[in-house]
Amino acid sequence: MGKIIIAIDGYSSTGKSTIAKQLAKALNYIYVDTGAMYRAVTLFAMRHGFIGGEKDDLEKLVQSLPQVDLKFVYNKSLGFSEMYLNGENVENEIRALPVSRQVSKIATLEQVRIKLVQMQQKMGEDKGIVMDGRDIGTVVFPEAEFKIFMTASPETRAFRRYKELLDRGEKVSYEEVLKNVQTRDYVDSHREFSPLRKAPDAIEFDNSDMGLKEQLERIHNFALRKIEG
Ligand code: DC
Repeated sequence: MGKIIIAIDGYSSTGKSTIAKQLAKALNYIYVDTGAMYRAVTLFAMRHGFIGGEKDDLEKLVQSLPQVDLKFVYNKSLGFSEMYLNGENVENEIRALPVSRQVSKIATLEQVRIKLVQMQQKMGEDKGIVMDGRDIGTVVFPEAEFKIFMTASPETRAFRRYKELLDRGEKVSYEEVLKNVQTRDYVDSHREFSPLRKAPDAIEFDNSDMGLKEQLERIHNFALRKIEG
């Protein structure tokens, strides 16, 4: 059976990565979370003071991009890959709110997108991959055999994210998380380079009122049909 590329795009906190991860496992495919790559570049920029201080220096960040080494390393006991920035495991730090607050800004930078898209295309060379992000079906793999565009209401997504952050011990308010979700939606869909939009051939999937099991079952069945051609 031939391997395919599965592109999962959509708004933040739609549960894309949970679905993508489980789908990859069920199909024995590689899973790539491209948001983690944008987050790791953001963390790099924050650590070097290019953003998050008094004045942003995005030009310096762009100049420093060759020094940003990103790798996904599979963690056998967790059953998924973790993000490494210049040899350091940054999986936890990239998910925290300080990075979430800044990441949209970094994702608007054309040079950052060019670097990351090239890496992502290389990862998909042999197919057999489930990749989630914002521009996978439109820019990274416009030829992907199976494309999904996930949506859910901002309130549903903010509540999911809020619970996730609380579980991780972060002190946040629901209102703060909702604001972050709404701001990111706006920036992600209005940026100049590769704005978030549904590819014409993507299936739209609203999961506001759908449990994880049902979503996975449906998407898995779709995928199998695509794989069988
Ligand atoms: O999926 P996420 O929330 O971890 O993504 C973090 C940010 O990165 C989000 O603001 C959108 C951006 N992003 C992007 O522009 N393109 C991608 N392929 C993946 C993420």
